[in-house]
Amino acid sequence: MTAFPEKRILLIIGGGIAAYKTLELIRRLRERGIFVRVVMTEAAKKFVTKLSVESLTGSEVFDELFALTGDSGMGHIELSRDADLLVAAPATADLLAKMAQGLAGDLASTLLLATDKKILAAPAMNVRMWLHPATQRSVALLQKDGVIFVGPESGDMACGEYGLGRMSEPAGILTAIEHLLSGDMRLPLPGDLSDESAGPGSLKGRRVVITSGPTHEPIDPVRYIANRSSGKQGHAIAAAAAAAGANVVLISGPVSLADPFGVKTIHVETAQEMLTQVEAALPADIFIGVAAVADWRVAETSLAKIKKHPEETPALTLVENPDILAAIGRRSKDRPALVVGFAAESEKLQENAQAKLIAKNCDMIVANDVTEAGVLGGESNKVSLLTKQGKENLPLMTKQKVAARLIEKIAGMLGGNGQ
Ligand code: C5P
Repeated sequence: MTAFPEKRILLIIGGGIAAYKTLELIRRLRERGIFVRVVMTEAAKKFVTKLSVESLTGSEVFDELFALTGDSGMGHIELSRDADLLVAAPATADLLAKMAQGLAGDLASTLLLATDKKILAAPAMNVRMWLHPATQRSVALLQKDGVIFVGPESGDMACGEYGLGRMSEPAGILTAIEHLLSGDMRLPLPGDLSDESAGPGSLKGRRVVITSGPTHEPIDPVRYIANRSSGKQGHAIAAAAAAAGANVVLISGPVSLADPFGVKTIHVETAQEMLTQVEAALPADIFIGVAAVADWRVAETSLAKIKKHPEETPALTLVENPDILAAIGRRSKDRPALVVGFAAESEKLQENAQAKLIAKNCDMIVANDVTEAGVLGGESNKVSLLTKQGKENLPLMTKQKVAARLIEKIAGMLGGNGQ
């Protein structure tokens, strides 16, 4: 655990149910010796109490614009400038809209406007509110202004819906804060990669498009075809590429992982949606297909839930999905300079991987033995990096270390410093 005893954070708690997670974030920040001063909006106080926050921070909570006469006696300019970093968590739709418009009608928005420090926002709201063009406009404006976002993530929401809008977990927000406090806008890989990292800058200026996770192919409104991919390897590769300085677009199927920090993450469900988003993300220098794309989808998705029938079992007619990797590998226009695929095999690993290298016109295939314990859904992977020039067998290692070596190799193949 890295300690930051000299650092000060001004934490703005917006009014959302996710505010309870912010309490855990405060605890973790305090464990690292970070001084946390908290401002709560009126709505935030409906979700968590000032007393809980003050007990955790050990200092006064500020909540009124015209009453900055507490023990500290600090004015609002001083309050916002005194911090090394401002963090808005949860950043509600209302707070983001105020920030984007430069409104300053309450203490929280005034401090966000008055600051000369970086702002990290952890949005949290209902999926429809997040996807609403008004919120997306706010986010785009704020990104242009230099506000840094962590999350939101997708999953079950407190309101009973499912989708994008959950606030990132405290651990994810903490990682983002630690890197901003270290003066680093990019994330190193999770885990200790030290000398195995590709090194910052080795993919500087490169655009990388990566697919990750499974796809879900709907049968009817409640059922779907899926597979066991967790997305851990693809997400680790996206984080490694970002840490090496690349501009990364990650197109992810449904996973329960945080969006990697510093990576533009696009969430999709089906193989067809994934292909559309990959094509929209081109041109790129590098494409890495890590997703376990479903090979088939149901020919006709039923609009209504298919009912059980005592005498009849429904038969599903399947049609083949597009092969995204092959489609990108075989492009005549805008083919990325490097196309990298994965081959998850349970038998004849090298032979099958070699065949894919040719069939899908790839520059590299990462062959992994899925019979190895702990690979599917686990933290480790055992892979060989297969190119037309030869192969490199890596021992069983964490998915982060596989990601680091892969990115290093790719940087080398593009003329960087890692071959
Ligand atoms: O043919 P197979 O599914 O084993 O190939 C695996 C590789 O192809 C992976 O890189 C995977 O991301 C990619 N793939 C794809 N679209 C598909 C099937 C596989 O991009 N429909």
